Amino acid sequence: MRSLSLLLLVALAALGESEEGGKHHSRTKREFLSRSKRRWVLSTIELEEEMKVDYPFKLSRMFNDKTPGKQYEFAISGEGTDEGLFSIDKLTGDVYVHAPVDREKKASYHITFDVWDKSTNTKIDRELAFDVDVKDINDNAPRFIAITKEASVKENTPSGEYLAASLEAVDDDQEGTVNSTVVITVDKQVPAEPKIGIVHISGRLHRLIFDGCFDYDKVKTYSILIKASDKGNPPLSSTATIKLNVIDANSHQPIFKQRQYQAEAVEMTINETILRVAVEDKDTPNTDGWRAKYFFISGNEDGLYKITTDPKTNEGVIGIVKEKNFEIHTLVNLRIGVENVEPISVCKDGKLIKDSKKVPPQDSVNITVKMIDTNDAPVFEKYTDDVYHMEESEPGQVLYNPNVHDIDSSKFRFKLIEDPANWVTVDEKTGKITTIKEMDRESPFVDENNIYRIVIAAIDDGSPPATSTCTIKVHLGDINDNSPTLINKTIIMCVNKVDKILVRAQDADAKPYSGPFIFFLGDDKIASKLWKIDPAYGEEVALVSLETLPYGNYSVPLVIQDQQNEAAAETLQVEVCECNKGDVCRPRKPLSIGLGGAAIGLIFAGLLLFL
Ligand SMILES: *[C@@H]1O[C@H](CO)[C@@H](O)[C@H](O)[C@H]1NC(C)=O
Ligand SMILES: *[C@@H]1O[C@H](CO)[C@@H](O)[C@H](O)[C@H]1NC(C)=O
Ligand SMILES: *[C@@H]1O[C@H](CO)[C@@H](O)[C@H](O)[C@H]1NC(C)=O
Ligand SMILES: *[C@@H]1O[C@H](CO)[C@@H](O)[C@H](O)[C@H]1NC(C)=O
Ligand SMILES: *[C@@H]1O[C@H](CO)[C@@H](O)[C@H](O)[C@H]1NC(C)=O
Repeated sequence: MRSLSLLLLVALAALGESEEGGKHHSRTKREFLSRSKRRWVLSTIELEEEMKVDYPFKLSRMFNDKTPGKQYEFAISGEGTDEGLFSIDKLTGDVYVHAPVDREKKASYHITFDVWDKSTNTKIDRELAFDVDVKDINDNAPRFIAITKEASVKENTPSGEYLAASLEAVDDDQEGTVNSTVVITVDKQVPAEPKIGIVHISGRLHRLIFDGCFDYDKVKTYSILIKASDKGNPPLSSTATIKLNVIDANSHQPIFKQRQYQAEAVEMTINETILRVAVEDKDTPNTDGWRAKYFFISGNEDGLYKITTDPKTNEGVIGIVKEKNFEIHTLVNLRIGVENVEPISVCKDGKLIKDSKKVPPQDSVNITVKMIDTNDAPVFEKYTDDVYHMEESEPGQVLYNPNVHDIDSSKFRFKLIEDPANWVTVDEKTGKITTIKEMDRESPFVDENNIYRIVIAAIDDGSPPATSTCTIKVHLGDINDNSPTLINKTIIMCVNKVDKILVRAQDADAKPYSGPFIFFLGDDKIASKLWKIDPAYGEEVALVSLETLPYGNYSVPLVIQDQQNEAAAETLQVEVCECNKGDVCRPRKPLSIGLGGAAIGLIFAGLLLFL
């Protein structure tokens, strides 16, 4: 029922405008009012769109004051006249419309009227030009221009949040009027809960909201009939349907399939999987609301066990990650719990509940793990021990008695593992170590700390047998069983350089059974004439020649005493010669002729001794 009226006022205005070059301004409307009255007279024109009348339909009748007494005719031109939409009766001035017009296609027509003098073929008056605006009726229903036809909502979406659906609607009727004012509502939704509504965001944009909560178990799909109405009288409307799919969230706790589990594991053994536990979950498989997360509640305080989720089966996999020794077969009670990756929430009485106290509790079960004790090795009270023993003691002495216990077997035997000098024997039953030979501190098997190392093993009767060993460190006490000796029994004396030589002695015994030593010249008259010892006390002493000695070899008898006055007789061979660089004797002629006095003396003395 839209209409558009063309008023007289408008006609006058248009006339005025045409005088000023066809411009339509309200200013000219007023200006022209008085003058125009005398010329064109026009009743109200109402052109309403889509009029349901018989066509051609008379819209109005034109008059012109100047026509009386003249042979005249009216003419019409402008928009819609060539196509025959508008016409004018040349004589009567009746204006006709020949077909319904549609404002939404063309909202106004610019039309010009003229009146001609037929005899002179001239215009009787100036033209009358104006816009015929088409009056709106509410002939357009709102239409949706953008609409999310299918949307989804996560089950655990909190009430009041926008749904992922938006829509826009327009109405083609005249803007800014009730005929084009659109109101969008939810006409019907199936099922009815939770209540879905529409909010206007801005401009044409509207979004869906809801009040309450979704329950995937009950409803998986909603059909929402949206209605867009205008405010015309009566209103026109159109509808659209949005499909809303509910996406499952975590609303069910996983539940263990068994109430009690048993497992077995071997002590001291890392094992990826000693047990698998499975759960039932009513949520959609392979969603975070279904995926299980397992955890220990008790029994794993020392971190021996690990629990992970098998991503394929959703099972909990329990493994052992640390080695621990159990002395006997032990039952370990593990308590495990399970939850989902996604936090749980439930839709209850139209409310989304997330509070851990109000949602169903997490399930938990006990697992009894039998830790199987393997054959533990016998345990020596001490794995290394020290004993003290005098060297050269009589064989047959007990050196050591081990103290051994075994948690899981009572029978074990002993074996000698290391005894490099073959000095001891071990009792197979008791582990008692007895010497079978005299032990010598000076033996190469004794280290620099006077320690001789013996290793014995205790072997139990398990299968396979378990072994552990004990090292006995025998600290050998020294006795003075060694005499001092010369380190060098022959020495060169370069008489062209020195008149004394240094003499060193050694004693294999340890303090106080060794040096420093006291040196004496042996009981030899000739030697005591040729030599003296000065100093005579020390690890090293000096042998001084008392006179210039002819070249040759001299035997010097020596007596060396250690700290305990244990003496040893040694003979030092001294080669007296002339040396080159580096104390090496210079080669010389054989002593055939011209024996030195001393040499002769020596020979002579030898002869005398012989005699
Ligand atoms: C709207 O449409 C009705 C008829 O449907 C009409 O009577 C009215 O004039 C139009 N315009 C306004 C602004 O109401
Ligand atoms: C791990 O434990 C399971 C169950 O006790 C057992 O069947 C499996 O042989 C063990 N694996 C290893 C490597 O010890
Ligand atoms: C499970 O283990 C807990 C804690 O270790 C214990 O209190 C409870 O009695 C056990 N339940 C069963 C059924 O064995
Ligand atoms: C022993 O004699 C040799 C040769 O004369 C000499 O090189 C060495 O240094 C001597 N050793 C000692 C300990 O005096
Ligand atoms: C002295 O002894 C050395 C080796 O001990 C020997 O080479 C040398 O010939 C001897 N000299 C004499 C004169 O006998």
